[in-house]
Amino acid sequence: MTTRFFPCGAIALLLTTLCNGLPASVAATLDTALVPVPQEPGPAAKKKPVRVNYDLAKQLFGTEPAAPAAKVESSKEKVDLGKSLYEAKLGKAQQSCASCHDVAKYGQDGAVHDRNTLSTVNAARHYAQFWDARAASVEDAAVIAPKNGVEHGVGDEAEVLASLQASADLGKAFAAAFPGDANAVSVANFRVAIGAYLRTLVTKSKFDAYLDGDQKALSNDEKLGLKLFMDTGCITCHTTRLLGGHMIQKSGLLKPYPTEDTGRMRLSGSEADKGFFKVPTLLNVEKTAPYYHDGKVATLEDAVTHMADMQLNKQLPPDDVAAIVAFLKTLTGPLPGAIDARDEKKQ
Ligand code: HEC
Ligand code: HEC
Repeated sequence: MTTRFFPCGAIALLLTTLCNGLPASVAATLDTALVPVPQEPGPAAKKKPVRVNYDLAKQLFGTEPAAPAAKVESSKEKVDLGKSLYEAKLGKAQQSCASCHDVAKYGQDGAVHDRNTLSTVNAARHYAQFWDARAASVEDAAVIAPKNGVEHGVGDEAEVLASLQASADLGKAFAAAFPGDANAVSVANFRVAIGAYLRTLVTKSKFDAYLDGDQKALSNDEKLGLKLFMDTGCITCHTTRLLGGHMIQKSGLLKPYPTEDTGRMRLSGSEADKGFFKVPTLLNVEKTAPYYHDGKVATLEDAVTHMADMQLNKQLPPDDVAAIVAFLKTLTGPLPGAIDARDEKKQ
């Protein structure tokens, strides 16, 4: 998969040619999905059972983004070490990954650093890391050299290595996770172990159950939200199981978004990349306010209203916004820790 998609929903004419990745049948149906829905069905009409094109939904949302796989095989010891490293205070600032990416808060801290903190939950499933997709894998994202003014994490390689070497407990855990490696305490192994842990931070939602065949998993209101999400054209950009995390796109496609941050252009220097950011996943979006790369949008209602206006030039009535928000809330899954606890209880 390439990094750039065309705004296929926005320009219906280009649809069939430019929706790369979508089967022709989907592109054709997308075309009809773009025909405006009849206005004003009224609240009573909306109570009627909502019919979603289920096959289309499965095609749009059924697949995973093409995310880089782990290069080293995982093990329980690596995951355990990765969790310890994630929680350890490292570097000159004695900071932990967890201080900004609190797993109990769905992998983020609700704060804006140089950019709005992205969640580590489900991050390993993205095609690339960070708002500007500047790192390929979660292993790469764990320690990244300051690049074009954007720093990230707990310090540079030398700082991290010094912290690791200073801890006898971590030394033992590294030896257990990398048996036979004479140089087990290394930044390379730090990356592998953190990655092994991050790859366990995944959630499953009601919407997954729906896509996996249980069409009753969504209520009528939630189905209405799904239908509006599809018909309004949000699916131009928010597709796959993650409803994002699969490409970069322009923030401010049809109406400009005022921001100092040039996004992908910081990396490439190319004017054509100005304002391009990774399309954020919408999994657990209910739990990860504030929104956008700059954290300037406070609520989900505002994000949905503004997205429709800015990206699609559609002004959604409050009822439609509420329905879409109800759908987005079906994308929340129990936290990884909660899933483990539930599985243990079952056994
Ligand atoms: C000071 C706060 C802070 C600390 C400490 C921190 N992060 Fe981050 N993290 C961020 C911010 C802010 C972003 C978004 C930055 C961007 O996109 O430019 C981010 C992005 C990420 C991403 C990309 C997620 C995605 O969806 O693309 C991953 C993975 C990640 N961090 C992992 C880690 C790990 C692992 C550590 C510890 C080694 C760590 N972070 C430490 C603030 C922090
Ligand atoms: C042209 C592509 C495109 C379309 C169409 C689009 N989005 Fe987005 N969406 C994005 C991008 C890019 C961002 C990140 C914006 C930023 O950070 O400046 C985003 C951000 C969001 C966010 C905030 C997520 C977060 O974690 O910050 C939500 C919610 C959202 N979109 C929902 C929608 C809905 C609902 C629709 C349809 C009404 C829609 N989007 C249409 C590309 C798109």
